[in-house]
Amino acid sequence: MSDREVPASVPLVPLDIFDRGLRDLRISLIDRCNFRCPYCMPESEFHQDYQFLRRENRLTHDEIVRLAGVAVKLGVDKLRLTGGEPLLDRQLPALVARLAQLPVSDIAMTTNAMLLDKQAAALKQAGLTRITVSLDSLNPDVFHRLSGGRGAVDQVLAGIDAAERAGFDALKINCVVQNGINDHTVLDLLAHFRHTRHVVRLIEFMDVGNRNNWKADQVVTSKALLARIEALWPVTPVAPNYRGEVARRYQYQDGAGEIGFISSVSAPFCGSCHRARLAADGTLYTCLFATQGTRLLEPMRRGATDEELQQMIERVWQKRDDRYSEQRASREPTERPLRKVEMYRVGG
Ligand code: GTP
Ligand code: 5AD
Ligand code: SF4
Ligand code: SF4
Repeated sequence: MSDREVPASVPLVPLDIFDRGLRDLRISLIDRCNFRCPYCMPESEFHQDYQFLRRENRLTHDEIVRLAGVAVKLGVDKLRLTGGEPLLDRQLPALVARLAQLPVSDIAMTTNAMLLDKQAAALKQAGLTRITVSLDSLNPDVFHRLSGGRGAVDQVLAGIDAAERAGFDALKINCVVQNGINDHTVLDLLAHFRHTRHVVRLIEFMDVGNRNNWKADQVVTSKALLARIEALWPVTPVAPNYRGEVARRYQYQDGAGEIGFISSVSAPFCGSCHRARLAADGTLYTCLFATQGTRLLEPMRRGATDEELQQMIERVWQKRDDRYSEQRASREPTERPLRKVEMYRVGG
């Protein structure tokens, strides 16, 4: 069913140029992170003198709740809290409790889990529904390299344990796979989470932002990974959990659980992209690879009403024609590079 053919009982929501509705709002709470992953916040640039957003230039919780409420009126049913690192926001459970009052089916969070062990129970109690942990390798040396020398695998695993104890059912474990960097440790990561309910998702390395020096030969395609996995543990495809799911799901044939592949490079999924991203400075982006966004902070602080904010977002969405990943393959290498939004500002 296309988004134009929704039943009459569903209130009319805006569609973009390609008939995609706005269903999923990803909210970056903070531009800071306790890691320095080289592909996202390299230490050389994000050093101790780097000027992150000042508190007064970040959305307050009141503003976030307000914008999320407006987005819900436009069709949003899923919220995802990201960063930088969302757990650096010490008042996160209070924010989650307020967002949980909105009529949404899902409030998820993407985190590096370094600070999760202390916060998991409070977040569960506040109404967080799901947690996704970014974990690129269990090998301490590879982990160290990929976190920019910050954090520790044991602490991330302690965070995952705490989430389980707090009652989060199946976590998602996101692993961005890079050729020659961590691809040799993928099978160990899968082995660790086999026979648990957690779902490891192997993500093709993408050219997000302007500084990750992305080259096509750094990508390990899902197809190549699948072949390596099948040599050890045969798997069977499973139907998506919901329409437009980003990951393609597989089950181990021996019953050891599920894995997912996010193939944004080899098999882009822009056709079913219902996501918008709100950066911590109040800029709304309609694509992970956007070159510009729409400022909502100033209008809000100048006194815009909810109706005015709703109209602003609606107008932006109706003009949306983003499909960067589908166009990537056809971009001429000689084309001037786009000045894209950075990953740490929109949280992946
Ligand atoms: P679920 O609700 O659990 O299905 O989450 P999700 O897969 O939509 O979100 P998640 O944050 O776990 O996404 C995992 C990764 O997929 C991100 O870190 C990105 O690398 C990639 N990804 C997510 N959304 C997009 C998108 O809109 N475009 C592209 N190109 N990649 C995306
Ligand atoms: N390609 C794919 N995924 C990425 N992430 C960060 N950078 C990239 C990239 N270049 C993922 C992180 C995390 C989420 C926030 O985005 O691993 O799971
Ligand atoms: Fe932090 Fe995530 Fe960026 Fe790594 S990828 S520096 S954990 S925001
Ligand atoms: Fe959506 Fe842009 Fe990603 Fe395509 S590239 S799936 S339009 S965020």
